[in-house]
Amino acid sequence: MDSLRGKKILFGVTGSIAAFKAAGWVHSLVKEEAGVSVIMTWAATRFVSELTFSALSGNTVYTDMFADDPEQAMAHITLAQEADIVLVAPATAHTIARLALGMADDLLSTSVLAASGKPVVICPAMNSRMYEHKATQDNLLRLKELDYIIVEPDSGRLACGDEGPGRLPDWAGVREILLECMSSHDLEGQHVLITAGPTREPLDPVRYLSNRSSGKMGYALARTAKRRGAQVTLISGPVCLEPPEGVKVISVTTAEEMYKEVMQNRDNASVIIKAAAVADFRPDQYEFHKIKKQAAELSVNLVKNDDILAELGRSRKEGQFIVGFAAESRDLEEEGKRKLLAKNADLVVVNDISKTESGFDVDTNQVTIISQDGTIHLPLMSKEKTADQIWDNVLFRLEME
Ligand code: CTP
Repeated sequence: MDSLRGKKILFGVTGSIAAFKAAGWVHSLVKEEAGVSVIMTWAATRFVSELTFSALSGNTVYTDMFADDPEQAMAHITLAQEADIVLVAPATAHTIARLALGMADDLLSTSVLAASGKPVVICPAMNSRMYEHKATQDNLLRLKELDYIIVEPDSGRLACGDEGPGRLPDWAGVREILLECMSSHDLEGQHVLITAGPTREPLDPVRYLSNRSSGKMGYALARTAKRRGAQVTLISGPVCLEPPEGVKVISVTTAEEMYKEVMQNRDNASVIIKAAAVADFRPDQYEFHKIKKQAAELSVNLVKNDDILAELGRSRKEGQFIVGFAAESRDLEEEGKRKLLAKNADLVVVNDISKTESGFDVDTNQVTIISQDGTIHLPLMSKEKTADQIWDNVLFRLEME
């Protein structure tokens, strides 16, 4: 799953100053075309008005268990039944305590109970001493026992001036948790090793040889695999991307470092995907001092880097599934087939770098998946959707083995 579009989120807001941040989260969900129904506790309405949440969600905001309005009267049952997922953010110490006890004394706590069997994500936000108090920590443990998903608060300066844990985390990480809760966990049990990004081959302290890879495709593969339940190790060259939530990231710079880390981490990987654009050559000599421009000409001698994918294919561990990538500007299928055989890979994913929408540093891709038994042309789509389709393909083949 690559988007929350069309999903129904039951969003509980409780009485913390962080309620204003929850308004931004509702806005982001609606922008992504998710359906949002908001329940506010009485205390939450003291921080942010119902009008803010109804304007942002485009829906009635529910606050009262005993409303006269027939539409609101059975809200706790209908909202819980309709929801794909429940998100409580910010969750105060008080609400956490009530949920831990299974109380049903207001619309939010009643709705959470009525949502039994659906994923419930709780984002605690409060003063750090309240958060660290044994009572709150015990209640959070109890919520975990009840299979609620607890999102660790961020640490930092709090609205009250104290420093410590208790801040609502960024939306991106919480969104990732919602996607993971609603994705099928069909990669559970798989340990996947992914490489991403370019490598940099230094020439002197200032300069290096590299390429235009952004790492976006490899990171999308890592994110989607984690969502689908895999244990993920990502070996990444230098990129400007946020590390995916819940993924072990190993940062490298050169092709030689990438080679070393891949070889050290490959043994227990069931699937290896080499999405990195590894530099084929490196300067044969590193100049420790900056090269000066006095000379009229400068030649740099390049030596070949080891081919990591070819080595993985040559010495593959039993049962290991290996996927290579190929960035091509012509003869796409021929080149893909050549690399599949030459590097002993199970699949090669080819993308046409001559097109802007499947080239470098864009969020879309159009790839062709090549294997021994055929070729699949995928349409132009987001890199996350492409990643999901690659995983579908890998999974299909793993299940056939
Ligand atoms: N690759 C690798 N180590 C290298 C070079 C490439 O592991 N030193 C991997 C890439 O990660 C990718 C695949 O090999 O999965 C194909 O890379 P690509 O650059 O398209 O092909 P090359 O092998 O470099 O061949 P060519 O230069 O002929 O295109």
